[in-house]
Amino acid sequence: MAISRIEELIYGVSDIRECSDFLENWGLIKLEETSEGANFKTLENQIVSLRLIGDVSLPPSHEVGSTVREVIWGVDSLLDLDKIYKELSSDREVISGSDGTIHSQDDSGNYIGFKVSNFSEAKVHKNKLNFHEDIARWNETIWPQERATPIRIGHVVYSIRSDGNWEAAEFYIKRLNFRLSDRSKDGGTFMRAEGSNFHHSIFLFHRQGTKQYFNHVAFEVNSFDEIMTGGQYMLERGAESVSGPGRHSLGSNCFWYFKNPCGGDIEYFADMDRLDDSWEPRYWEESPPYARWMVGEDVLTG
Ligand SMILES: [Fe+2]
Repeated sequence: MAISRIEELIYGVSDIRECSDFLENWGLIKLEETSEGANFKTLENQIVSLRLIGDVSLPPSHEVGSTVREVIWGVDSLLDLDKIYKELSSDREVISGSDGTIHSQDDSGNYIGFKVSNFSEAKVHKNKLNFHEDIARWNETIWPQERATPIRIGHVVYSIRSDGNWEAAEFYIKRLNFRLSDRSKDGGTFMRAEGSNFHHSIFLFHRQGTKQYFNHVAFEVNSFDEIMTGGQYMLERGAESVSGPGRHSLGSNCFWYFKNPCGGDIEYFADMDRLDDSWEPRYWEESPPYARWMVGEDVLTG
């Protein structure tokens, strides 16, 4: 049942125009916008969908205000979809939508769905970097673009209750074949989808204890430069920086987080650890520091 990636993210928002403008500035490609909603895509054709908060087609939320209402995971084939349907039907409600997407909930009550992935290859330039004796660029200059263009949605993060946090993570590992990358007893659990080699596709963050909400979504960009140019572009358009830029300890990715009017935070990232099944999951009694280095205050965003 190979889940390869996040296929679609569905937000319920109170102000379509504000959120749509924000995502356009973020660098996503706008597909359509009406007074009822808007759709955007990444270069790899993952969809970010905005709908009005009162839209009756949205699943309910345990949060008040704009937030993510459903995360749809992409799978390889209809056969995979069928396997997931059978697996989850054994102990919870699974609904088949008219477009073939199936909908259910994880063990924390977050609404999740599954559909066959509609991947398209992103065409991005190859970065050539010169470090010490490792020279990839001769007689060429670097001239970064003034803004970012996200390649893909890399991961989502939910803040969950610390009670039962391991069982909440096990749902993804045992029922959906996610792989454990890193887990800290006091922080959370990083997991990657079976068909992905990024350090994490999902992080369940339980440090805050009792709060339960959509924490953030992260978009991979093509270079550290693009984190900086994209972040600067957002700042100039009034976006609020939450933490960063910096480099995380777990996952090793460079990051920069902003407040997202659609709900939760939003992250540019690049240069994350890539893992295969030879990686030994790490268990930490105490979380390593949030970042190896970071500009500004230390704000825990997971
Ligand atoms: Fe993140």
